[in-house]
Amino acid sequence: MRLPCRLLIPSLLLTTTLVACGSSGGAPGDVDDDFPLALVPGPASTPPMGWNSWNEFQGGINETLIEAIADAMVANGMKDAGYQYVNIDDTWSNKTGRDANGALQPDPGKFPAGIAAVADHVHVTDGLKLGIYGDRGTQTCGGYPGSQGYETQDANTFATWGVDYLKYDNCNASLNVETQYQTMQAALVQAAAAKPSPTPFVFSLCAWQFYQWGVTTGNLWRTTGDIKDTWDSIFANLMNDRSYAAYAGPNGWNDPDMLEVGVTDDEFSYSVNHTEYQSHFSLWAITASPLIMGNDPRTVTGDIKNILTNKEVIALDQDALGLQGTEVWESGDGNLSVWAKPLNAAGARGVVLLNAGAALADVTFTLPLIGLAGGSATVRDLVAQMDLGAFDDSYTVAAIPSHGTATLKVTGTEPPHPSGTADLSDLTWTYAANGLGPVEKDMSNGFSAAGDGAPISIASTPYAKGLGMAAPAAVIYRLNKACTSFTADVGVDDAASGQGSVVFQVWADGVKLADSGTLTGSNGMNPGKQTLTADLTGKRRLKLVVNNAGDGASWDRASWGNPQVICTAKK
Ligand code: GLA
Repeated sequence: MRLPCRLLIPSLLLTTTLVACGSSGGAPGDVDDDFPLALVPGPASTPPMGWNSWNEFQGGINETLIEAIADAMVANGMKDAGYQYVNIDDTWSNKTGRDANGALQPDPGKFPAGIAAVADHVHVTDGLKLGIYGDRGTQTCGGYPGSQGYETQDANTFATWGVDYLKYDNCNASLNVETQYQTMQAALVQAAAAKPSPTPFVFSLCAWQFYQWGVTTGNLWRTTGDIKDTWDSIFANLMNDRSYAAYAGPNGWNDPDMLEVGVTDDEFSYSVNHTEYQSHFSLWAITASPLIMGNDPRTVTGDIKNILTNKEVIALDQDALGLQGTEVWESGDGNLSVWAKPLNAAGARGVVLLNAGAALADVTFTLPLIGLAGGSATVRDLVAQMDLGAFDDSYTVAAIPSHGTATLKVTGTEPPHPSGTADLSDLTWTYAANGLGPVEKDMSNGFSAAGDGAPISIASTPYAKGLGMAAPAAVIYRLNKACTSFTADVGVDDAASGQGSVVFQVWADGVKLADSGTLTGSNGMNPGKQTLTADLTGKRRLKLVVNNAGDGASWDRASWGNPQVICTAKK
């Protein structure tokens, strides 16, 4: 038996050392027509990248500063690394109110030349884009004029000024949140269309707990409260964000808040070390989070600049497949975890190993854990931008420092495509995201621990085979155009004791093939069980989705009873 590769990461050093490796020769990958997929068009095909003034400067902004930062983003290689948006946050407007025509106006002390002049500088001098901040209520979080009742006028003002991106906050608001965000969305669409050269706004929802409609309203939506420049805050935001992974995708991203990497002016600044900032960046990248820098690009130093401009880690974030990496393994004490996401190439996975504990630790993953077939694979350290060789079946990174990560790309072999009549719970999925702990095979979703469900039971019918999920959830299988049909019984599991409400959907290659409508756990009031079927002829990827249905995520234990695909022999 071959030894797994072992990688040493000496504490606080970026250098990595390969100390043992039991295999040679990489896996060729599974050659079929599943990859690569084309980039989905739109204003946020991949997670937005840029800079925002709030974390470092709060109210201390003005036009000279914003323009100097845009210039620095070009000079320091940030534009070249992919950062596009220069976003002015709260306090930019005239706090005393709107002008005589009701229009928002910039603070004359901070922006004497006006926002249009800043937009011009950012566009023409730097080739970057400008973002601005607003609020759905009567006032912003900082007490500046809000857009309630002025949505159309404000969207037109932003368009006239040449603004490309709006972060829209949720303070001082009493009206229906969904309606107000949708009103601004419609106003932005209309205002963008009226621009001389129409380009859609990126719409950033600075509101949380509204994920169902966020997906169709904004290009990114906050999943957490305000981030702080502390490790605990960074980690807490990551933990909160992971439950919503199923919602993320091209043009709609979960936003665990802006980066704290290199911030010096937060009340807690200087408590986060270099190892932790690297982890912050790597974890935002594996989770396909927006990369909005919060530091001062004018004074960025070597280490911080290296973290923020590392093109291989950025490529992990920006991968065109647009899947949010999920936590595929967690140690019993929650300190160690493995995060993975499929990349847009056959056999390729991004992997981040996290040691959130206080002591040095080894972290191991196996190939099936990250959705690959067992056997041989190669591994690359994305932070060091260095190939680490080949390994068989499992890989260990040794001595990961406290709060440290290993950021890897693994290239191996995709699992076999299904053939004949296949139970989905017997296959290795390409990707699984779940609202509460892992998707379970042949049991209902219990709570957050793996394997803590009960036998699947839908409307009193037991199922030996199946998948247990909690909304929102998404599971993807590769079919290689070799399958003809899908069938499953679906419903809220009896484990929910009459509670919960969900919607089951079957998608293939971006097209919805079946939709259960709302199914509830309340037996009797709603049949609670349905059979979903779909024609899979010629399809490459099957995606099973479970969404919340209006009443939040409470007890949304969604079970698929006997989900099967019927396929021809394996290609
Ligand atoms: C809220 C947001 C922050 C920032 C401030 C500005 O707290 O979450 O990101 O925009 O408002 O007042």
